[in-house]
Amino acid sequence: MGIKAVVAGASGGIGQPLSLLLKTSSLISELALYDVVNTPGVAADLSHISSPAKISGYLPKDDGAKTAFKDADIIVIPAGIPRKPGMTRDDLFNINAGIVKGLIETIAEVAPKAYILIISNPVNSTVPIAAEVLKAKGVFDPKRLFGVTTLDVVRAETFVAEIVGESNPQSLTIPVIGGHSGETIVPLFSQAKPAVSIPEDKYADLVKRVQFGGDEVVKAKDGAGSATLSMAYAGFRFAEKVLRGLKGEEGIIEPSFVYLPGVAGGDVIAKETGCDFFSVPIQLGTSGAEKALNPLTGLDENEKTLLKACVEGLKGNITKGVNFAHNPP
Ligand code: NAD
Ligand code: LMR
Repeated sequence: MGIKAVVAGASGGIGQPLSLLLKTSSLISELALYDVVNTPGVAADLSHISSPAKISGYLPKDDGAKTAFKDADIIVIPAGIPRKPGMTRDDLFNINAGIVKGLIETIAEVAPKAYILIISNPVNSTVPIAAEVLKAKGVFDPKRLFGVTTLDVVRAETFVAEIVGESNPQSLTIPVIGGHSGETIVPLFSQAKPAVSIPEDKYADLVKRVQFGGDEVVKAKDGAGSATLSMAYAGFRFAEKVLRGLKGEEGIIEPSFVYLPGVAGGDVIAKETGCDFFSVPIQLGTSGAEKALNPLTGLDENEKTLLKACVEGLKGNITKGVNFAHNPP
């Protein structure tokens, strides 16, 4: 089966390198790029790469979004403004909520079966917005909607490897659960595979670095935006895993921010956290998010404290997204 992939926000800091990586993937036969600017140029540039994917670029004119999204199998959304120093992800809400809502409305119309991967911040709120829009249009399949939290996992692998002296960070599997901002990000080092031993005097700083890794990049970019290249890597890694699952590969697990009551095994996690949307390790398969794996049993005392703070912050972010979808300004 040929796979049509779409990047919405394809001309941006994340969109361009993400489109490059997707263009090189042998899993994709067609790649459509959509943005409000510059997609003809980005598509022309990438079209010279000698990989199989047929590439095209669309702008809003002539119903470009509809043509780009039509019958897509997978749509990755990094559209929206990024942070500048001093901003929280929630400060992006006023602009990005409307952008995501508009894109999802078009997807619901022309690609209701697409697997949707949302990168646009604040993920804790944009994913609930997307779910509510899809529900209102009668096409919500929770197994097909993902908030991309892979960058938190990638950071955890990298920072833990530095501390434990692991030369290949990708050999580590470290669940990171909760949401995607500050204290809503909960790394579970106690569940790392293979097991890692974090020195006690390094634990608090390591947790903070995973939770606030985004701020590290925002500060270093000094007004020029937030993480783009590492995010493109993370977005591609997650998209590839979704596609490999769809193609029938077994045993693929990656955390993602999903609507728990709609994913097998998610109900119990939603009850325990009080959050319907939450990032947990997801088993990916031929129908998307096939199973939510419960990471809450066996948390150590530090992790229980982190989880409490996470849930307190995350509930408000979720409610804000749901309310926006029902009563946009
Ligand atoms: P950017 O400004 O470089 O690019 C955003 C792109 O979106 C621009 O090309 C812009 O033209 C486009 N755009 C705006 N409105 C659009 C619309 N209605 N339809 C299609 N395209 C539209 O920003 P960036 O650095 O690429 O970041 C994009 C988003 O990703 C931000 O919200 C950022 O906070 C978020 N982000 C999320 C994560 C994560 O882990 N989930 C990581 C990094 C960044
Ligand atoms: C990140 O974690 O790098 C992104 O969410 C971008 C940001 O605003 O920090």
